[in-house]
Amino acid sequence: MSDQGIVASTPFVSLGHRHEELSARGWTVLTPDEFAYDVLGTLHEFGPVIPQFNGQTAFAITRKPGYEDLPYSQSMNGIGPHTEAPVYGPPPRYLALHCHQQATCGGGHTGLVDGYQLLTYLERTDPELREWIDDTPVEFVATAKPGEAAQRRVKEYILTPTEDGDIFRFSYNQFHYGDVNPSKEDLQQSKVTNSTSPLARFAMLGEAYFVQHNTPVLIPDGCMLIWDNWRMIHARSRYTDPARNLTRYWLA
Ligand SMILES: [Fe+2]
Repeated sequence: MSDQGIVASTPFVSLGHRHEELSARGWTVLTPDEFAYDVLGTLHEFGPVIPQFNGQTAFAITRKPGYEDLPYSQSMNGIGPHTEAPVYGPPPRYLALHCHQQATCGGGHTGLVDGYQLLTYLERTDPELREWIDDTPVEFVATAKPGEAAQRRVKEYILTPTEDGDIFRFSYNQFHYGDVNPSKEDLQQSKVTNSTSPLARFAMLGEAYFVQHNTPVLIPDGCMLIWDNWRMIHARSRYTDPARNLTRYWLA
C-alpha cells in the first residue's frame, strides 16, 4: 500500500463533546487547537455570528478610557449578574469570549450561573414570586454605550417560552439603575435597595443566588468560552491588569 496522493489539509477537529457540554451544562471552553485555524468558522458551528450594539460582529473587551466609573464592558470594573442584550427579541442565543490575554491580577473572572435553576429554586422557596414572574412583563432599556442618547426599550417577560427554548432575562444594572448600560447619573440611586416591590425582591434573590452558586471562569490565554445566553446568567469580577484583552461575539 502506498500513501502517495494523500494531501495534507486543514485538520478536522470534532467539537461534538463541546456541543454536548454546552447543552448539558450551559457553557464550554474551547482550547486553541480546537479553533485556531478558523475562529469564525468554528463559531458558525454553534450559530451565525450577529452584529452587537455598535453594529460590529467582533467587540473588543479591553480597557478603554472614559468608563472608569461605570460598570461597562470596556472598563476594568466588575459587572453585576445579567443575561446579554435582554432588549433584543430574541437576545443572542450564545455568547463567546475569545481570550487573547487574560488578567494576571487575580480578577477578570466570568462568573456563570444557570438561570433556569434559579427559577426552579424560586418555585420551591417563593412560589408567589415565581408566579409573579409569569404574570408580569418587565421593562428593559439599553443605551448602546454609556452616555449616548440612543436607547432600545422593550417590555418582556423574565421567562419567555419559544419553540426553540425558553428565554431567560436578568439584569442587575437594569433592575437597580433602569438601564443595562447605566450612566453615572443612573448609578446615583438604586431602585432595588429599600424597595419591597416583587421585581426588587427577585433582583436581590437572584444576586444572592448568583453569589452563592456561580462558577468563576478565568478563561486561559488563547481559549474561547461559549455559553447559552438564553439560560445562563453571567457577570465579571473587577480587574486591575490593563493588558486584559478579549473579543466578544454574539451568535443567533
Ligand atoms: Fe455581558
